[in-house]
Amino acid sequence: MDKIVALCKRRGFIYPSFEIYGGFAGFYDYGPLGVALKKNITNLWWKQFVTDREDVYGVDTVELTKQDVLKASGHIDTFTDPSVTCKKCKHIYRADQLADTCLECGGTEFYKVENTNLMFSTLVGGEKLPQLAYLRPETAQGIFSNFKNVVDSFHPKLPFGIAQIGKAFRNEIAPRDFLFRVRELEQMEVEYFVREGDWKPAFEMWRKEMLAFIEAVGIDAKKVSELEVAEADRAHYSKRTIDFEFDFPFGRKELYGLAYRTNYDLTNHQNFSGVSQAFADEEGDEPLVPHVIEPSLGVGRSLLAVLLSAYTEDEMNGETRTYLKFKPSVAPVKIAVFPLLKNKPSLVEKAREVYKMLKSEFGAVVFDDNGNIGKRYRRQDEIGTVTAVTVDFETLDNDTVTLRDRDSGKQIRVKISRLAEIVSEVIRGKLFSELPQEIR
Ligand code: GAP
Repeated sequence: MDKIVALCKRRGFIYPSFEIYGGFAGFYDYGPLGVALKKNITNLWWKQFVTDREDVYGVDTVELTKQDVLKASGHIDTFTDPSVTCKKCKHIYRADQLADTCLECGGTEFYKVENTNLMFSTLVGGEKLPQLAYLRPETAQGIFSNFKNVVDSFHPKLPFGIAQIGKAFRNEIAPRDFLFRVRELEQMEVEYFVREGDWKPAFEMWRKEMLAFIEAVGIDAKKVSELEVAEADRAHYSKRTIDFEFDFPFGRKELYGLAYRTNYDLTNHQNFSGVSQAFADEEGDEPLVPHVIEPSLGVGRSLLAVLLSAYTEDEMNGETRTYLKFKPSVAPVKIAVFPLLKNKPSLVEKAREVYKMLKSEFGAVVFDDNGNIGKRYRRQDEIGTVTAVTVDFETLDNDTVTLRDRDSGKQIRVKISRLAEIVSEVIRGKLFSELPQEIR
């Protein structure tokens, strides 16, 4: 973990928030490479869970949430963690994580266990009639609040889903383990509405979709296991939950959750708002309040599992090398272009030409002429750049460049006129071992 955290900071993936002011526990910012990696992950999710399907509608709803909504959803009353406070220094611990002594001051006396609500609250509106509101603890409630709107605009038939990617906020008692437990997080969620009798096949369908996503982003499937969550440990709304767990360096912990939420949320919103949430599939059908299957995936936890799965150390040319073995689809940089030597204008000029051509086609392309070529390869390997193109003296003779494979270090020569075509195959996942030695 320490190595990943240090690499993320050094190379511009993840920075601790407000570090110049001493940091802010449970908050992290995404740097240029982190945001690119995050977007690649969320775009893959959106494609698989929304645009590739005919039965899922996307929404983007507000983060600040009216009190009534969270009263109805049960979050005001039950979204709590048991906590204990040290009598001496007042440090707060999650009750399930406390040993006998306070880690801060060594104190051994604690106030009795309390249930602490994890939502952040604020006041909205003018000074005279401010309304209490909360930062949403899950994106789901924005979806449920818009259930009727989507039904009225699109007239979908059951089963169908509404999806959202967005921020959620939890005042975690003990934020820890880098991106694993943070206070401002991002979720990718679908609420999939079904007839009560159809919940089992829908649950199974989403279980498979989640496994396919794990594979698609390059999370090591050998480190993923499924846990049937016992009734006592399930959220207040759930009749069945599977946790997808990942073997993090700090233990086997929840990566994603898949829950059968029954029609708990829609029924409560109907009762609290007085607005019917029932709808009929076909004319003449008895209106019903649908049941819900919910695949819920954390963005930060995805990113952490992707980074941990990609992190590799090996030996190359007698030196230890660190590289991120990202799947090309998630790699923040796809191609690096180098002139062999920095001080040869003809090489630099040609390399910039090749760079511009690739940049306009593939976007995530960088140019680097800093330091010797070996160092440049190492730098790109460390951020998981899929492939590197080098312009050398032979280029000036015959318009070919070398194309290097990140994982093996192997190079092949490719005619510039065929470069975009070959690179495009490589970043769509074609292995170097499947390419000929020379492409002219
Ligand atoms: N709508 C259902 C829901 O919010 P959850 O199990 O509380 O269920 C879903 O959260 C997912 O959100 C988790 O599996 C995890 O990936 C992510 N998540 C939850 N709390 C988190 C936190 N404090 N920091 C990072 N990710 C978190």
